Amino acid sequence: MRKKIVAGNWKMNLSFEEGQQLTSELVNMYRDEAIKDVVVVLNPPFPHLYPVQRLVGDMAGIFVGAQNCSDKEGGAFTGEVSAKILASFGVSYVILGHSERREYFKEDQTLLATKVNQALAHGLTPIFCCGESLEIRESGTHEEKVMEQLTASLFHLTPEEFSKVVIAYEPIWAIGTGKTASAEQAQEMHAALRGHLASKYGQAIAAQTSILYGGSANPGNAKELFGKPDVDGGLIGGASLKSRDFIEIVKSFEI
Ligand code: 13P
Repeated sequence: MRKKIVAGNWKMNLSFEEGQQLTSELVNMYRDEAIKDVVVVLNPPFPHLYPVQRLVGDMAGIFVGAQNCSDKEGGAFTGEVSAKILASFGVSYVILGHSERREYFKEDQTLLATKVNQALAHGLTPIFCCGESLEIRESGTHEEKVMEQLTASLFHLTPEEFSKVVIAYEPIWAIGTGKTASAEQAQEMHAALRGHLASKYGQAIAAQTSILYGGSANPGNAKELFGKPDVDGGLIGGASLKSRDFIEIVKSFEI
């Protein structure tokens, strides 16, 4: 059985106090509401990672992830944070290939492949994002585009390495716009992604790869999205900043 995962991407939001409060609320709700069988990953900005990790403590099922890591192992790269440093602080996951990093920071597919290598080399689980723009969706080439993103940055991995990767499909036109992909659109792409993974790594690995949906997911639409057979959870932006909303999304699986 592949893992069900709900990851919150806080992006560049929340002060120290706000981050602590949100985390405390989430940990309490997760415990009090006896949530089981869903892995929760909190991906705050870098300075929050350690204090968030301390608050989460040994709470089973909740993990801490970064929003980025360097493609370099270490050394004189001012302002960068390596996978090695993140791992030493107890970070377990790292979001790579988010469309905001591809667009605003010009991260290309070759760079992302190197970042994936760094993450895996230091025991971090990459949450690798892919997704198409509205223009590409309207041109009808969205599947090709997304498959190509995977091929270019992940298909150099061995089957053993690849089996540690989580995929997040995030159509750019649905991110922060309030315009969610329909559950059918998500399912169609997720099934195509799984087929693509199977063609490279075989059915068994494809069947155990978690594929998350991201883009305006909220407590009102998560149930329908997570009810689709190839949607294994979500990568949540805006709604991850409110404890009740995020926990309701976490509880949206039919278990
Ligand atoms: P929203 O949920 O705010 O649309 O953001 C999605 C996202 O980009 C998560 O990485």
